[in-house]
Amino acid sequence: MKEQMVQKYLDTAVRAAQAAGKLQRERLWSEHEISFKGKINLVTDVDRDCEALIVAAIRKAWPGHDILAEENEYAPAGSGFRWIIDPLDGTTNYAHGFPWFCVSIALEIEGIVRLGVIHHPMMGELFTVVQGEGAFLNGKRLRVSQRAPLKDCLLATGFPYDRTWDNENNFANFLNFQMAARAVRRAGAAALDLAYVAAGRLDGYWECKLKPWDVAAGQLLVAEAGGKVTNHAGEDFSIDDHRILASNGLIHDEMVKVLKAVKSKR
Ligand code: IPD
Ligand code: CA
Ligand code: CA
Repeated sequence: MKEQMVQKYLDTAVRAAQAAGKLQRERLWSEHEISFKGKINLVTDVDRDCEALIVAAIRKAWPGHDILAEENEYAPAGSGFRWIIDPLDGTTNYAHGFPWFCVSIALEIEGIVRLGVIHHPMMGELFTVVQGEGAFLNGKRLRVSQRAPLKDCLLATGFPYDRTWDNENNFANFLNFQMAARAVRRAGAAALDLAYVAAGRLDGYWECKLKPWDVAAGQLLVAEAGGKVTNHAGEDFSIDDHRILASNGLIHDEMVKVLKAVKSKR
């Protein structure tokens, strides 16, 4: 990928993420229109407005490109370029006025995620990554933590929306990691969990039943910050995998062991 083009794609993603983040910040504590996509899977008017804004910005800059975004389906263009968008990651938090959420945008070229942006508007933090060129926070290079073993580590996870009626609810994993690690957090925005592993603020993160828009930018951030990203079996990760495990690398095998222990009991 030519350097000049990369910068242009990244600029588009950054501008779109910042515009959406501004809107999220401005409307956080005002009244929202809330509807349900599933029994407990919320969507707000802000999710939809942010997606419209991001898609319009990308279409203006790159009219022929494909788009995969959470709230709408877009006709395939067969361009080889696919923008993968979570316009508001952390919707449940947002709907409750809990200020922990972000915008996540990635660009996949010929099936490979090449760059990504995660913007955390309430913290004024912009995570950016380009494959082969490193991960950055507000322009400063990121490295994963050097912490090990697992018992000294801070982890994060999340639980799927269908957790009350489907067996793969992550509860047993959560229990086991609470016993094995220093602590486990459930902050409510998967993309931020991944960005925090990249930044060394978390040592590891796992979750199941995620979608490509939850993980596309974040998994590249972790990899470019020197971490490791696999599925729960420790195998190569693809953004279509539903089970992600991301860590500083040092505790990865220990985390796989914990995840395998639960699986074998199922
Ligand atoms: C959700 C959040 C949450 C995770 C869920 C995701 P949304 O995304 O990332 O942390 O546990 O699985 O679906 O719905 O807020 O964009
Ligand atoms: Ca999400
Ligand atoms: Ca979302």
